Amino acid sequence: VWLVTGASSGLGLAITLAALSAGHRVIATARDTSKAASNHPEVQQRGGTWLQLDVRDSTTKDVVAGAIEKEGGRLDCLVNNAGYTAIGPVEDWRSVIV
Ligand SMILES: NC(=O)c1ccc[n+]([C@@H]2O[C@H](COP(=O)([O-])OP(=O)(O)OC[C@H]3O[C@@H](n4cnc5c(N)ncnc54)[C@H](OP(=O)(O)O)[C@@H]3O)[C@@H](O)[C@H]2O)c1
Repeated sequence: VWLVTGASSGLGLAITLAALSAGHRVIATARDTSKAASNHPEVQQRGGTWLQLDVRDSTTKDVVAGAIEKEGGRLDCLVNNAGYTAIGPVEDWRSVIV
């Protein structure tokens, strides 16, 4: 059982699809699961499950715990991928972070 955060695009989506193709169970998280499921139907077609999760929320721990419980308390691989890269001079970061 895998849990991949930020699975709606990029590396998270690629890892999710690779794990599903290898026959693993995958809980794929996205902030907008309707959009993610619509954009990437292959995740559910291959047996994956979408889970709504914004890693900035204070409820994250409980949401993840609930998802693991549904898998019989099992989690073998966590891919803590959600996030973004800020590239540029440190003076510009304030507008990104605030
Ligand atoms: N690509 C690179 O060269 C590179 C280099 C170094 C590190 N990284 C790191 O690798 C990770 C993936 O990069 P990527 O290039 O695949 O980026 P990406 O295509 O932009 O994917 C980022 C994913 O993170 C999700 N996300 C962002 N903020 C989130 C939040 N607060 N809660 C939940 N999900 C959130 C996005 O979901 P939404 O659809 O909801 O926005 C998206 O699915 C990032 O953490 C990035 O910093 C990437």
